[in-house]
Amino acid sequence: PDVSKTQAYGKLILFGEHFVVYHVPALVGAVAASTTCALEVVEGGSDEGVEIIDNRPAVPNYKVKKADEGKQAVDLVLKHFAVQDKLDGKSSLKLTFGGDLCCVSGIGASAAQTVSLSRAIDQTFKLNSTEEEINQGGYEGEKGYHGTPSGIDNTAATYGGLLKFQRTEADPIFTKKEIKEPIRIVYASTGITASTTEVVGDVRSKKEADPAWFDKLLEQYKALVKKAEDAMDQGDIPLLGSLMNENHKLCQELTVSCAELDQLVETARSAGAIGAKMSGTGRGGLMLCLTPTEEIQNKVFEALEKSAPQVWKTCLQ
Ligand code: PMV
Repeated sequence: PDVSKTQAYGKLILFGEHFVVYHVPALVGAVAASTTCALEVVEGGSDEGVEIIDNRPAVPNYKVKKADEGKQAVDLVLKHFAVQDKLDGKSSLKLTFGGDLCCVSGIGASAAQTVSLSRAIDQTFKLNSTEEEINQGGYEGEKGYHGTPSGIDNTAATYGGLLKFQRTEADPIFTKKEIKEPIRIVYASTGITASTTEVVGDVRSKKEADPAWFDKLLEQYKALVKKAEDAMDQGDIPLLGSLMNENHKLCQELTVSCAELDQLVETARSAGAIGAKMSGTGRGGLMLCLTPTEEIQNKVFEALEKSAPQVWKTCLQ
């Protein structure tokens, strides 16, 4: 199979992790790295049904921690596309995941995997699926990892680019945003892999215990994301940076940041980043920062390399 056609992007949430669960808009950007999936139908294969070969680069710990969920996610995608019905009962499947996306909590690696698998199924069985159907397959798999995900990761993995995404009572709505200026980003891992289901569940408990506290934060976030969208539309990178700092503050108040993330955010700002925040689930996972020039990007990268287990550079364009 032509694995290039099965690629699905990693993503970074620029604005709105956790708030997005509660039907307010988020801004998300696909990174310039992706996961691929090669699917082979093995005649007379084993009774095991599905063999998974995982060649994706990953931070230490990631694949070990995600192995069971990953298997469950793959099974959900196969079920969604009724793949077993398309086999003759005597064949099995061999799935090989690869690509240049380094798996780390916060980069949307699970969605990149389930979307790349959806694309591979579509290609192998000539289903002529629409992008919407590919995205839906990716979402079904994401449930294997996260319970009830917002859908932001699989949507970014499917469509790429920069998206404004909003969950609704019905299907999520999203629009592609034009990127006026290339957005240079450095992102770094805390080395900690937190459970999205647990952290999202904890935020929900806190919200239920003190609705007024949560509503106040949600209102602040809504005003913030509106300004962030305007800044993006105008290509105002410095403003975007200061709004990211404000988003990080809201994440701290929501209790989803942690000492390790706060430390990396400080390091990035001291080294010249014009905005820095946690990205994704939090309580571990990733931080990202905005670096307006290549020179600043390199300087911030070097500073973060001294304290973060892993650091990456990317550019949204
Ligand atoms: O850690 P990630 O990249 O899977 O992002 C999770 C984002 C949340 O808003 C916390 C949950 C969700 O389903 O949107």
